[in-house]
Amino acid sequence: MKLIQAKNYEEMSEKAAAFMIQQVQSKRNSVLGLATGGTVIGTYDRIVEDFKQSNTSYSEVHTFNLDEYVGMQPSDSNSYHSYMDKQLFRHINLPEDHSYLPDGMADNLQEECQRYEQLIKDSGGIDLQLLGIGQNGHIGFNEPGASFDSVTHIVNLTESTRKANARYFESIEEVPTQAITMGIATIMKSKKILLLVSGESKAEAISRLINEQIHNDNPSSVLKNHADVTIIADEEALSLLK
Ligand code: F6R
Repeated sequence: MKLIQAKNYEEMSEKAAAFMIQQVQSKRNSVLGLATGGTVIGTYDRIVEDFKQSNTSYSEVHTFNLDEYVGMQPSDSNSYHSYMDKQLFRHINLPEDHSYLPDGMADNLQEECQRYEQLIKDSGGIDLQLLGIGQNGHIGFNEPGASFDSVTHIVNLTESTRKANARYFESIEEVPTQAITMGIATIMKSKKILLLVSGESKAEAISRLINEQIHNDNPSSVLKNHADVTIIADEEALSLLK
């Protein structure tokens, strides 16, 4: 794993956007794996800025998001479909039918998981997967205890994850209890992985990732088994490592 240090959130976001833009410029038809959440918003902002200024083209890119809540309409403002549209998709020239997220409203959720996994395979596989990390070490919604062999599947969200995500909802009761997520094996098949870590609240998670042995109690620890992982972390996130 390669660790790149950034001063703060802004610098982390700039470095991350540059990394992703470089991927798209060097391979126009890249398949990007995308994440939602607070950490990656600054990165998307800078990708949008670059698109406006430099015209980096996304016309041949395909994207797959890590996850989506179960039981949430894509049009719901808290859905990850809405998030991606608002933060990135509507601002760049990515064709509408080139972006994929799991369908949390599917009648048959098991079939939806299989369909999603197959779509990723059919695309030729993910060239670069962008990840954030949960305070409990989750990646995607693969919570502690998740099997390293898991492919796209339905998960029950832990209380800590629901609490962390409650900031986007009126109350914690409104936070869905389940999601569809790429599995750990799905994520690990990506050719390259870029993990972003920002802020004191993630200091323990990054310190555990770096110092602890690989174990599914800490899903992010599996990244040590991947040949091409870059972590960009800011000073606050790295505060426990000094
Ligand atoms: C989001 C996702 C999650 C987040 C993680 C960090 O699609 O899969 O694993 O990356 O929960 O979220 P933030 O950035 O909001 O702290």
